Amino acid sequence: MILVTGGAGFIGSNFVLQWCGQTDEPVINLDALTYAGNLGNLDSLKGSGQHVFVQGDIRDAALLQRLFAEHSPRAVVHFAAESHVDRSIHGPEAFVDTNVMGTFRLLEAARTHWGALQGEAKQAFRFLHVSTDEVYGTLGPNGPAFTETTPYAPNSPYSASKASSDMLVRAYHHTYGLPVLTTNCSNNYGPYHFPEKLIPLMIVNALAGKPLPVYGDGQQIRDWLYVEDHCTAIRRVLQAGTPGETYNVGGWNEKANIDIVRTICALLDELQPRADGRGYAEQITYVQDRPGHDRRYAIDARKIERELGWKPAETFETGIRKTVQWYLDNPEWVASVQSGAYREWVGKQYGGAA
Ligand code: NAD
Ligand code: TYD
Repeated sequence: MILVTGGAGFIGSNFVLQWCGQTDEPVINLDALTYAGNLGNLDSLKGSGQHVFVQGDIRDAALLQRLFAEHSPRAVVHFAAESHVDRSIHGPEAFVDTNVMGTFRLLEAARTHWGALQGEAKQAFRFLHVSTDEVYGTLGPNGPAFTETTPYAPNSPYSASKASSDMLVRAYHHTYGLPVLTTNCSNNYGPYHFPEKLIPLMIVNALAGKPLPVYGDGQQIRDWLYVEDHCTAIRRVLQAGTPGETYNVGGWNEKANIDIVRTICALLDELQPRADGRGYAEQITYVQDRPGHDRRYAIDARKIERELGWKPAETFETGIRKTVQWYLDNPEWVASVQSGAYREWVGKQYGGAA
């Protein structure tokens, strides 16, 4: 079996659902269920013996030791993290705690477990660390896309904490020989994306008749990948990646934020027009920029394609249409994640502007 951390979050739950849909191998899912974790994402696995959920913290060394001893996973796929840049600006400590200390504890537990394995089991063990392209910092308009050898230059507390965790993972390979794999992926979007992030926030606010808050001039560029493509990339790296290597994962979909928001508005105009006949784009509101806002990210995903034969299946056009449709089809999911804590966050971040 494999041990997944953070499997009740956005990417982790998509990964667990895909894993259970496409393999028979059991998954132990360790998740603290912070504001970002939602067991409802995994409702379709209820009653399936293949998915075992454990509520707990990756910083809990005793719990980790028990899970490794009881289940002897052949691999760890590590998603658990604090993941939202804006929250890291308001409160960086949780990012250091979970992303750095949590990854450290998990590495320690994995090292102890792996150290006691013998022969084939020891050879086959893998620790896959899920990271981000944000560790590479920001690009100018014509700068070449990030490769696996681009120097790290993280700019936000979130990206700095992820960069730190990547460095620990690297060191555990070089020092102890732990068979680690690291993926650095661009911005994901798709089902179960928490509506604090750009794409789901815009869909949810548009439908609620609220402003669509675009930071600064809206010309910042992100490289978008449909979440299921990220999950297939992780599975491929787990299956065939070389221990100690890192793999950049991206969709070759660089888009300016304002173009993303306009695309979402156009899709909603088509799929669920406003009652007053006007366009959703009228709700676009430019708001104060994020401090230290990275201007552009772009991933060069040629290594994973060349060495492991992975390519995204979705284009941005197909992926964003599926995503908007998913939010239209799942208003109960949106309502269920908009807890008191969520409303508090929106009030703090946007004041009256969202
Ligand atoms: P998310 O915030 O939606 O989910 C994180 C999950 O981790 C939640 O279920 C949460 O409950 C859990 N968690 C948080 N702290 C924990 C702790 N101390 N112990 C156990 N569980 C804990 O995040 P996501 O967007 O699904 O991102 C998953 C991973 O992928 C992260 O490591 C992130 O850095 C990375 N990543 C995300 C993106 C993106 O676009 N979202 C892109 C590239 C990489
Ligand atoms: P986000 O989804 O927070 O991802 P990240 O910061 O990790 O790339 O934001 C994506 C882009 O959208 C980023 O450039 C910030 C911008 N943005 C807005 O313009 N308005 C918003 O309300 C949010 C949440 C993000």
